[in-house]
Amino acid sequence: MSGGIAAYRSLDIIRLFREQGAVVTVAATDSALEFVTPLSFQALSGEPIHNSLSNPTTPDGMDHIHLARQADLFVIAPATANLLAKMAAGLADDLVSTLLLAFDGPVLVAPAMNTNMWNHPATRRNVTQLKADGCHFVGPAKGLLACGEEGAGRLAPVDEIVEEARTILTPKSLAGRRLLITAGPTHEALDPVRFIANSSSGKMGWSLCRAARRAGADVVLVHGPVSLPSIPGVESHPVTSAQEMFETTLSLWHQSKDRPGCDGAILTAAVGDYRPVTPQTDKIKKNPDQTEISLTLTTNPDILATLASQGAGKVVVGFAAETGDALNRGVEKMARKGCDLLVINDLLEPGAGFGTDTNRVTLLNRKGEMTPWPLLSKEEVGEQLIQTVATLIQERAK
Ligand code: PMT
Repeated sequence: MSGGIAAYRSLDIIRLFREQGAVVTVAATDSALEFVTPLSFQALSGEPIHNSLSNPTTPDGMDHIHLARQADLFVIAPATANLLAKMAAGLADDLVSTLLLAFDGPVLVAPAMNTNMWNHPATRRNVTQLKADGCHFVGPAKGLLACGEEGAGRLAPVDEIVEEARTILTPKSLAGRRLLITAGPTHEALDPVRFIANSSSGKMGWSLCRAARRAGADVVLVHGPVSLPSIPGVESHPVTSAQEMFETTLSLWHQSKDRPGCDGAILTAAVGDYRPVTPQTDKIKKNPDQTEISLTLTTNPDILATLASQGAGKVVVGFAAETGDALNRGVEKMARKGCDLLVINDLLEPGAGFGTDTNRVTLLNRKGEMTPWPLLSKEEVGEQLIQTVATLIQERAK
């Protein structure tokens, strides 16, 4: 950490990294410690903090060498204009800048400063130099700055910094691959204000998108109406109905003159199986004399079955949302849809299905083999499923 008003947000960064299983060691400049106390850093990181070259904590006094050897990644958040200048020039006049010279792993820089300082030709030069040296950058974001000015200079959102760090550290098993993912519910219109839908939140699909992006894939997301923030670096196609999801997905699946086709697809969307035959153009009026009304529904196209039937050489993965007898129904669904892998989840099981942050799934492959996974966070299911799909895609390519 270097010293800027955004230094207080580094406490959230430490918390988020630790929640995701990282060991965090804090090295802070003197000016960072003007904004946040050593005790706060220590309490949140659970480790002693490091600040001085002349007051080392290791027996041989070479903290900068030991700390540099221990780390998988160096995250500088916030990075001030002064620290960027020192890094670009290779100066080493305090612990943080000395550590940076002694460290030969990946460096992620999250700058935060006044917008004029960010746009200054000297800072521009330093950023260009640091990018040429191989440093990764996240942000700065645009917005209202602490100084009251508007523009680029805000520290990137904390979750974006952590996500970028994870991306840097993830092996690129899907580099050069294009992966299509569907997520969320569909809305099947009854009239201009009402629709038939389900409770899919899109969380499962979002986790898969993040994991696929970390693994180096070009990620194409087709999603129904959800209230989740967009994922940087993911090509998103919002749709409403199953028919729209079908048309959009199919057009992205195959190569066209404007874009390459996809190497694989994972369909987590909870697609409406039926839609009203004739959606009303006016709001359906309530008739006080009528206690029952009937709706006539017709089937929607099956996206998964269509992609699987038009996916020679590609990998197609479906999800099966069941409510009881999940495994037997999954076997029957796999035969009907013709996909390579089916991820079965029972919506009635605690911690599984719609809206939760966790899921309990069983994988069913083409040989009929079932692999139950324990209750995991959707993030972990996404991570592990992407590794499985990467292996399938690599095997297909042989
Ligand atoms: O979004 P969340 O709140 O995180 O919840 C995650 C989830 C429960 C939605 C997800 O884990 C899940 O199970 N997704 C599949 C939901 C579903 O529609 O399942 P299904 O058994 O009805 O369909 C089987 C497969 O066929 C699915 O891959 C589905 O996308 C696909 N399908 C279904 C109907 C249709 N017309 N076209 C399709 O492609």
